[in-house]
Amino acid sequence: MNDIIDTCAAIIASSRSLICLTGAGISVESGIPPFRGPGSLWETIDPMEFAHIQSFMKNPERIWRGFLAGMKDLLDKAMPNDGHQGLVALEQTGRLSTIITQNIDGLHQLAGSSDVIEFHGSFAYQRCLLCDRRIPSKDIDLSRLPPRCDCGGIFRPDCVFFGEMIPPDCLTRSRELAALCDVMLVVGTSAVVQPAAMIPVIAKSNGAIIIEINPEPTPLSAKTSDYVLKGTAGKVLTALVDAVNRIHS
Ligand code: APR
Repeated sequence: MNDIIDTCAAIIASSRSLICLTGAGISVESGIPPFRGPGSLWETIDPMEFAHIQSFMKNPERIWRGFLAGMKDLLDKAMPNDGHQGLVALEQTGRLSTIITQNIDGLHQLAGSSDVIEFHGSFAYQRCLLCDRRIPSKDIDLSRLPPRCDCGGIFRPDCVFFGEMIPPDCLTRSRELAALCDVMLVVGTSAVVQPAAMIPVIAKSNGAIIIEINPEPTPLSAKTSDYVLKGTAGKVLTALVDAVNRIHS
């Protein structure tokens, strides 16, 4: 593994425009289960029943009680892990510019990453369905479900449910950055949900080198990823940053 780490570190150290796509896997070591795979969220609840906008609008109380309240609990407790810190370190070397994250946990920003595109929005804020007031999730009262705004409207998380569009500005900027980067790190995503899963393919088709970090193979691993670093985000990113720093020293 050291050889491939050193090879990838050299690629990163000489990159002109390095960006990173992250998925739920980078937050697993922060105590947030992934959506797919062993012990995942979707093993216990059906996303089409609990994470689809139509289900939410039909019965917001059921979705808050059966999914969102638990999600808020998990996210309130979560702290960045070595994986998030590794990406901050790569930004500090002046290499990594932007993270495109599918995650709604806000851990990249909490770790100190300065340019994060939240492709699926963020659970850090709630929005009122009636007056569109936006408040930090930490300020909502879950003693009554669904939580309501002072205007009487129901709060919904400011993230993208299944059945909703990706925020157009996020989609456009992500596609532009993917087309222009010369190296893309892909960390902790199963790469099965569109349009996020197309981001590495766009980068590849524009000549970028794709470096994938994941304990398991994904649909990208065989043909899109140039290098697959098999392992957990925290361990692999720590080793990668150490190798990049050795080159810079
Ligand atoms: N380090 C790195 N990768 C990990 C780790 C870890 N410690 N643990 C698990 N993984 C990998 C898994 O092997 C898997 O490939 O992270 C990936 C998690 O996949 P998903 O749970 O499908 O997460 P993600 O790809 O982000 O899902 C995309 O689907 O349900 C929607 O909106 C949700 O944003 C999410 C989207």
